[in-house]
Amino acid sequence: MRSVKIARTIIELNTLLNQYRISSTIGFVPTMGALHQGHLSLINESKMQCNFTVCSIFVNPTQFNDKKDLERYPRTEDEDLKLLKEANCDLVFLPSVLEMYPEPDKRVFDFGTLDKVLDGEARPGHFNGVAQIVSKLFDIVKPTKAFFGLKDYQQVLIIKALVKQLNFNIEIIACPILREKDGLAMSSRNALLNVSERKLAALIPQLMSSIPSLITAGYSFNRILLHFETKFLANGYNLDYLKLANAQTLQIENDFTDNHQQIVLIACFVGKIRLIDNLLL
Ligand code: PAJ
Repeated sequence: MRSVKIARTIIELNTLLNQYRISSTIGFVPTMGALHQGHLSLINESKMQCNFTVCSIFVNPTQFNDKKDLERYPRTEDEDLKLLKEANCDLVFLPSVLEMYPEPDKRVFDFGTLDKVLDGEARPGHFNGVAQIVSKLFDIVKPTKAFFGLKDYQQVLIIKALVKQLNFNIEIIACPILREKDGLAMSSRNALLNVSERKLAALIPQLMSSIPSLITAGYSFNRILLHFETKFLANGYNLDYLKLANAQTLQIENDFTDNHQQIVLIACFVGKIRLIDNLLL
């Protein structure tokens, strides 16, 4: 097992990375840490497709619209470094807030429909913060390819739009959702669930995976929504949204169609913890 190189400043990163820039393809996996197998699957994919893999760990304050959420976000640097070493990641970038934001970032992005619906609507400013930090990281790392998980489906579409808007010469690779044994999508936030909340959270993948057979049985989307609301209410959950959308544009749709690919997206609170998931139809 090789050791993973650590850079905490942009200068350190360039010193370690510059020698690989010309001859190697650089794969980049941006994260906020509290790493789990879902993150590691992105590292593995990068290692398969590129010669040199960079992971960043930075809990980005500008994408948190809820201060409490930012404060309670898990931070597990030692454990993360251990996992990155085991995964043979080549370099980890661990910048401070001051390094990334030497002055406040006032840029305002507009991605049309993409950032106005779903999490864009439920978490105002969230995707603007994501676009701010990811564009800065892309400028700093200058990767050949960057790897993102489809668990954050809307984020993937926004990053692809960002790459177009700012003319980044970076290929965005979307990777499948990794799940726990009971189907719950892996997430750093799962660590914040207590034992009974964690058990309850399994209802999300259970209900989501029942959707295809409900469609076959002739259920309309509204009927499925009602069915979910009843189940969630009975289990003491707070459903933030369950929406059906065009999988390319994220335009919200009222019912199922065979004309184009659709996706069902869910966000809900289990206790205080907000979890998301989605199902491509
Ligand atoms: P974070 O939530 O740490 O996620 C980092 C990457 O891991 C994202 O691309 C996310 O989609 C992916 N990921 C998380 N859980 C996954 C799972 N179960 N299966 C597959 N991939 C998964 O997303 C962010 O951080 C931030 O918004 C970031 C892009 C780093 C910008 O700050």
